[in-house]
Amino acid sequence: MSEATRTGYSGTGPGAITPDGCAVEHWLRLRPGQEPEIIASAVPAGAGILGTTLLGTTLLELGCGVGRLTRPLVERGFTVTAVDESPEMLAHVTGVRTIRSTIEGLDLGGERFDVVLLASFLVHAGDPAVRAGILRACRRHVADAGQVLIQRESADWHLRVPRESRTEHGVTRVASADPVDADTSSILVEYEYEDARWTQRFLSHRYTEESFAAALAAAGLAVDEVLTEDGTWVRARPMAGAVAYGRRHAHSHRWWTWQDRPAARAAARGAW
Ligand SMILES: C[S@@+](CC[C@H](N)C(=O)[O-])C[C@H]1O[C@@H](n2cnc3c(N)ncnc32)[C@H](O)[C@@H]1O
Repeated sequence: MSEATRTGYSGTGPGAITPDGCAVEHWLRLRPGQEPEIIASAVPAGAGILGTTLLGTTLLELGCGVGRLTRPLVERGFTVTAVDESPEMLAHVTGVRTIRSTIEGLDLGGERFDVVLLASFLVHAGDPAVRAGILRACRRHVADAGQVLIQRESADWHLRVPRESRTEHGVTRVASADPVDADTSSILVEYEYEDARWTQRFLSHRYTEESFAAALAAAGLAVDEVLTEDGTWVRARPMAGAVAYGRRHAHSHRWWTWQDRPAARAAARGAW
């Protein structure tokens, strides 16, 4: 383990473990699911909005891990900047610009992106200061007319415990969800393969729709659209931009809803 783990977070098993308890070797085994399709469907086709046509659509991936999603996003034409606090994770991310930093402490000096991606339930960080800081970092780095794509837990995520699902070569089990206060749980996840076993314990803050919207608003963001039937993928926009976007919709049909997107429908069926 290279660094101190975050309070309430830990991991066991072979190889390097990140401060939030993730095992690098485990994440190297996982293939992308529907995430790249959901992300690509959510972002209008064409060049970026920042005038950087040579770069295409710029995307800041927060908490990129070993680049499981980075590679397919690059294949879909995004110009990705990948951020993670773990050097052992980042060592596996190749072919894109990488930045080692906490998300909450990230400051790229005024650089803005067409898309900021906050996947992997990182919006549920247990520490309130970290949680607020992560959303402020999203706002700080998204263009005023850009979008923040957030993957959050489904409404029943904490209730369907224990549960397990099969990955390509192993089993993922959400073994327990123990309340530590009114809206935070300590989650234990087990990953089992024939030749290895990892565990991760982490804190997860539960949102209602109201508290989710309030957390975004405190960072200057507003929910623009729920992208998948299970409610787990959300597009947020900077508040001023969200108002303008809403007005545009007042005069036209929505561009799409989650039902229009095959990837979103598939993701809704395969929710973890
Ligand atoms: C569960 S892994 C998922 C990685 C990637 N998003 C994926 O889907 O494959 C979470 C990653 O986020 C990183 N991470 C978690 N909290 C972070 C924070 N506050 N700042 C920077 N990195 C963080 C961890 O080091 C880890 O690599």
